[in-house]
Amino acid sequence: MAYPDFNMDHQWLPFTPNRSFKKEPRVFVAADGMFFTTHDGKQVLDGISSLWCVGAGHNRKPINEAIKKQLDTLDYATAFQASNDQAFQAAEMIAAMAPGDLNQVLFCNSGSEAADTSLKVALAYHRARGEGHRNVFIGREKGYHGVGFGGMSVGGIPANRKVYGAALLPRVDHLRFIHDPVKHAYIHGAEPVWEEDLLLELENRILPLHDPSNIAAVIVEPVAGSAGWYLPPKGYLKRLREICDKHGILLIFDEVITGFGRLGTNFGADYYGVVPDMLNFAKAVTNGVIPLGGVICTDRIYNTMMEANAGSPPHAIEFFHGYTYSGHPVACAAAMATLSLFKQEKLFERAGQMGVVLGDAAHSAFKGLPNVIGIRSLGLAAAVELSSIAGAPGKRAYDIFMDCFRNGVLVRPAGENIVICPPYIVEKAHIERIVNVVSDAIRKNA
Ligand SMILES: Cc1ncc(COP(=O)(O)O)c(C=O)c1O
Repeated sequence: MAYPDFNMDHQWLPFTPNRSFKKEPRVFVAADGMFFTTHDGKQVLDGISSLWCVGAGHNRKPINEAIKKQLDTLDYATAFQASNDQAFQAAEMIAAMAPGDLNQVLFCNSGSEAADTSLKVALAYHRARGEGHRNVFIGREKGYHGVGFGGMSVGGIPANRKVYGAALLPRVDHLRFIHDPVKHAYIHGAEPVWEEDLLLELENRILPLHDPSNIAAVIVEPVAGSAGWYLPPKGYLKRLREICDKHGILLIFDEVITGFGRLGTNFGADYYGVVPDMLNFAKAVTNGVIPLGGVICTDRIYNTMMEANAGSPPHAIEFFHGYTYSGHPVACAAAMATLSLFKQEKLFERAGQMGVVLGDAAHSAFKGLPNVIGIRSLGLAAAVELSSIAGAPGKRAYDIFMDCFRNGVLVRPAGENIVICPPYIVEKAHIERIVNVVSDAIRKNA
């Protein structure tokens, strides 16, 4: 198949410069293992797990077979006032992997829906406890929690917010960003140590401003993924947990990227030894093959919502929320096959090991190249940060991304960063190829 064998006039592409795309399209028609095939027959190495999803690599037979079997058994069943066996079994598997008393899974279909679901649970939970006045949310600058109005409001990526003005949720504040471009420009598999306590601002400014008794939840990504792989200061998440506990504020970890193996552990919560009250997931849970997301809540949250309804008639619904496709049987079958495959092939351990190889390769190849002002690696992900071109923010990273694609490697431009986050099955030779292609593109775009 060669372009233009299909008509490109009717798909409005998401988070993509549509006008330039049509001049130089990047269209995948097949994938296997670490590689895509494009519409014009090129092989492209997937250096970003298709946006943090495809941990086990593409075209994995056990997942495909589970989906086919499920389609022939129970294709779909409504999720309201009924359920399906796959959803219960997948929820049990996910709860068993989650730390602490994170045991109650509310399914949805994406990371954006998980963000909005978790914010709604926070409000409903506080109301159920008689603290309905707790309605302030705190996110963080450069945070990404998807594109729903809730997620955008607590999110902190300016370009995603600027058009929506007063339509964003009121009563939202943001923690300051967690990066010091001078002292922590180069971080290799470590937790940046700050002299300053970044969370003093929360304690001394944000909490008193709103009054802690009004704050429903703080939501953060353990590692800021979409912004360009920015790592939390040493001790930051533990201290955030303590502050939230002190004031009865719920802590939500958005683990859409860090969940299911990216850091070499089940979740970022395990990596950092901090258990949130809610944990949002999506992406890698099904190896990306079928949309599935969810929020894992503590038993305490679930029980509070049930107990608050103890006096209600038996037909009363405790939480007015859900999606037509919550716990879709085919998605849940895909999730179970994916999680079993991760376990069988010890892919989380492998992600941790290959992360060291990626970090070593990225730091030795990129440091000192023109315009490189930072390199950060942790788990199986690395970002190289480039100086901005005056008047053209993001252009350098975009041009590098395009050059890499022309040379058969898919990487991710994120602001002024190039992010590399390959599938957990990645081999050393793939990492060398990715890093060489990115290095050449950095030199070419100097
Ligand atoms: C941390 C985080 N939350 C939420 C989302 C949104 O997920 P989705 O695109 O599935 O709605 C993303 C997507 O990259 C993410 O990285």
